[in-house]
Amino acid sequence: MSDLSRVRSVLFVCLGNICRSPLAQGVMEELSAQRGVRSLLTIESCGTGAWHVGEPPDPRTVEVAQRNGVRLSSRARQLAPATDFARFDLLLAMDRRNLSSILRAGCPEHKALLFRTFDPIARADPENDPWNLEVPDPYHGGPAGFDDSFAMVHRTVQAMLDEMFAQDTTEGP
Ligand code: 4NP
Repeated sequence: MSDLSRVRSVLFVCLGNICRSPLAQGVMEELSAQRGVRSLLTIESCGTGAWHVGEPPDPRTVEVAQRNGVRLSSRARQLAPATDFARFDLLLAMDRRNLSSILRAGCPEHKALLFRTFDPIARADPENDPWNLEVPDPYHGGPAGFDDSFAMVHRTVQAMLDEMFAQDTTEGP
């Protein structure tokens, strides 16, 4: 489902659910609130792995978010195939490994996409290299990786919201 105009529930998926997907969740919560459409949306995140279940986001993720005006409130949880595939219109994987994991777990193909499918910079890339559509895992790298993740996540979520609410930009009466 790459037409976003009918999408109202989104599950962001990464590996540990402490870096990339909680950042995407927090950024979408914040930007949708700024647009007055927060209450129209269901926004969650999860990991395909279980190592960090119950933990808050990585401190480096919390820091980059905070520095950019975004407060993160999620706790890590693992993908729940029995309910998540029905509850969400779209599951957005941060990298190709995450995408194959959710497909292997039974996610309907029309609901599973790489998050950066909606990145305006990646979309404009004439080479269209599918590897460019990943948000690289920043967990084992230095602080610059977290700034890069934030920039990709922020511009991609903005573009998604533009497309989701192209017609209807308010919650109305
Ligand atoms: P994330 O990053 O998938 O963006 O949350 C990672 C967090 C933890 C691990 C790997 C990636 N880990 O191996 O524990």
